[in-house]
Amino acid sequence: PVLVIDFGAQYAQLIARRVREADVYSEIVPSTITADEVRAKDPAAIVLSGGPSSVYEPGAPRLDEGILDLGIPTLGICYGFQVMASHFGGTVARTGRREYGSTAMSVDASGALLEGQPGAQTVWMSHGDSVSEAPEGFTVLATTADTPVAAFEDRERRMAGVQWHPEVKHSEHGQKVLESFLHGIAGLPGDWDSGNIIEEQVARIRETVGSDKVLCALSGGVDSAVAAALVHEAVGDQLVCVFVDHGLLRQDERRQVEEDYVASTGVRLVTVDARERFMQALAGVTDPEQKRKIIGREFIRVFEQAERDLAAEAASEGEPIRWLVQGTLYPDVVESGGGTGTANIKSHHNVGGLPDDLQFQLIEPLRALFKDEVRAIGRELGLPEAIVGRQPFPGPGLGIRIIGEVTEERLDTLRRADAIARAELTAAGLDDEIWQCPVVLLADVRSVGVQGDGRTYGHPIVLRPVSSEDAMTADWTRLPYDVLARISNRITNEVAEVNRVVLDVTSKPPGTIEWE
Ligand code: XMP
Repeated sequence: PVLVIDFGAQYAQLIARRVREADVYSEIVPSTITADEVRAKDPAAIVLSGGPSSVYEPGAPRLDEGILDLGIPTLGICYGFQVMASHFGGTVARTGRREYGSTAMSVDASGALLEGQPGAQTVWMSHGDSVSEAPEGFTVLATTADTPVAAFEDRERRMAGVQWHPEVKHSEHGQKVLESFLHGIAGLPGDWDSGNIIEEQVARIRETVGSDKVLCALSGGVDSAVAAALVHEAVGDQLVCVFVDHGLLRQDERRQVEEDYVASTGVRLVTVDARERFMQALAGVTDPEQKRKIIGREFIRVFEQAERDLAAEAASEGEPIRWLVQGTLYPDVVESGGGTGTANIKSHHNVGGLPDDLQFQLIEPLRALFKDEVRAIGRELGLPEAIVGRQPFPGPGLGIRIIGEVTEERLDTLRRADAIARAELTAAGLDDEIWQCPVVLLADVRSVGVQGDGRTYGHPIVLRPVSSEDAMTADWTRLPYDVLARISNRITNEVAEVNRVVLDVTSKPPGTIEWE
């Protein structure tokens, strides 16, 4: 693999993704990794990520610099660039000046790292101190007004570095920098693609599972759908999928799973219709945490019952169920962070998840993958676009998008408004710009309106379109006014209970993505 050494900034995951977009497999490791551990992993190349703004900063993470003497091709980015510079005898000047944001840069395109790139470009900087003198043997490739050495390389040592962040979209030609390093300087072929991943996983699953039976809970989301499809590809009808309809799904979701997904994969599916049970349990409840608890609890009960039924059936055939498929992704498992080695696990929500005391061994075929890769695999496996392209949707579903008590009637209202918003966003080609767009019903709020000749007293609907890389932070998406107008017109015309549509223009933080 290519090892991305993480100095604790938020950029390591982004770098690892961009490396994979160059069709090279990458893994993230914490900066506490030792030279011996690196050698044991035998990486084809190393990328040192960004981190604190200066190597002189108190408490700045230290690298076991023996890593830079292993003869492994290495790219230093930002803080990693400064670490590399000082290791090989260059000078890092304590300027105390910060260069932050979009920065004009001039480029010498004759080297390997920035080969063929325009002489003037704009890149994204975020650093304090600067490299003032490149180490001996290194050629300077770029400069800015404040930074005399913004990039360098030593082709003999196969070392290179850049002061800016090529992994962020604000840096022009950033992906090209990574590709020139990986394919040019490090000489790596680009052979990591979805076809390969599928073959590898299918073989591994077959070997792990043997002839045992396997269970999977489908949520309707991308991750469990792709995980189950992979396992089905490997072991066919040894896999049984359970889909719980808790009544908090969006329009058409159940049909998509029961018909489209099943038709395209051939998986054996058992749907449990638990709508009534959830509605009863949620009656009179308005507190968000309370809702989450109830939905989570009921989900587990329903799933356990289904599991017992299936297990009994399987056991009577002499084939107990031994394995449970989970759609865990790489960002959920990566151990990362600035030298502390603390696990960067999204503690957030497991609501709608499974109990942890089930008597199964886990198969997690997506553990090494990022979301975009999971989608690519899903497409390769022929899953319906409506499922593969789906934006994140919370386990408690529409239950936490009705502010107030959840009732059948309110669910129906929200479902229709949500379907209109989604259809218009898709029709406008905006799905890729939006991370997700919760549509929220303010069920306990009424606002006055006028329709035809009459006064109305209806409910507001909130549109919450956000852009994000990982849901930890987010910004509200600047949607075109005409698209917003179409959504608003259609919802207020077609959904009688709604007479007002409002737009949420709050970033996260301080607002969360969901309203509850
Ligand atoms: P917030 O609202 O915390 O959401 O900014 C961050 C991401 O998590 C999703 N989310 C949930 N997912 N169960 C889930 O499975 C939940 O209870 C839950 N609450 C929020 C949210 O949709 C967003 O993607």
